[in-house]
Amino acid sequence: MRVAGARVLITGGSSGVGAAVAQAMAGAGAKVVVAGRDRGRLEAVAARTGGLAVVSDVTADGELLAGCAGNVDVLVNNAGAGWAGALVEMPPDRVDELVAVNLAAPIHLTRLLLPRMVEAGRGHVVFIASIAGAVGVGREAVYSAAKAGLLVFAEALRQELRAVPGVGVSVIVPGVVDTPFFLRRGAPYDRRWPPPIPPERVARCVLRAVERGRAESYVPAWLRVPARLRGSLPGLYRGLAGRLG
Ligand SMILES: NC(=O)c1ccc[n+]([C@@H]2O[C@H](COP(=O)([O-])OP(=O)(O)OC[C@H]3O[C@@H](n4cnc5c(N)ncnc54)[C@H](OP(=O)(O)O)[C@@H]3O)[C@@H](O)[C@H]2O)c1
Repeated sequence: MRVAGARVLITGGSSGVGAAVAQAMAGAGAKVVVAGRDRGRLEAVAARTGGLAVVSDVTADGELLAGCAGNVDVLVNNAGAGWAGALVEMPPDRVDELVAVNLAAPIHLTRLLLPRMVEAGRGHVVFIASIAGAVGVGREAVYSAAKAGLLVFAEALRQELRAVPGVGVSVIVPGVVDTPFFLRRGAPYDRRWPPPIPPERVARCVLRAVERGRAESYVPAWLRVPARLRGSLPGLYRGLAGRLG
């Protein structure tokens, strides 16, 4: 769909990928609404993009956010959080938080904003998933599961909306992105490979997905290979993953 002139709501717009998506969308002529909890960072992004800031927690304020955002044409479900470590050491409240922010909140917000898009016969919903959700990553089991849920939710929703050709659904599957995500989850990214990509690259991918109606985009694109390998030859995938990490 045409992004110029569209009203685009980006959750988690106060940082990293979300802030870069806001910038890319504004650059393409969209009217941007950014949502997040950190007022200072959110208002700075809104000022840079000429957009509107809605201070809100996606896990608790979905209805308020949907109300303040107005007639949204494009919803980018980007807010997310991680946690790394052994499952048995994960505090139960972090389990609930990760499922709430990464999976339940995008489902609820989409449910609230979709009826208007369907009625108008025009709209687009984007989900920022993760390679962790496509292949499963050890010591990130809950994060992986929540992101896997998003991938399947997007697939199912796309099928459901087949009768409404003007409303699209895209899922973006990033690898490692250079943002404060790792600092916030309390465990730095300590692998040498793959190297982190800049959030602007993910933002360009989101813009292309909306403009061209792409169902699924891996960024970087080669990440599609391990995901496909796991789907088609799971035994070989597990052997390689065990050896290469
Ligand atoms: N960085 C990576 O390597 C990577 C890789 C694959 C996928 N992703 C996904 O990309 C998305 C963006 O992450 P990022 O890398 O840009 O990390 P980030 O810089 O930490 O940004 C996360 C954003 O989510 C928002 N957020 C978190 N919990 C929230 C809540 N309860 N309510 C409202 N907003 C909330 C934060 O806003 P406030 O702090 O203002 O609330 C922040 O704007 C996430 O879904 C993440 O899972 C990241």
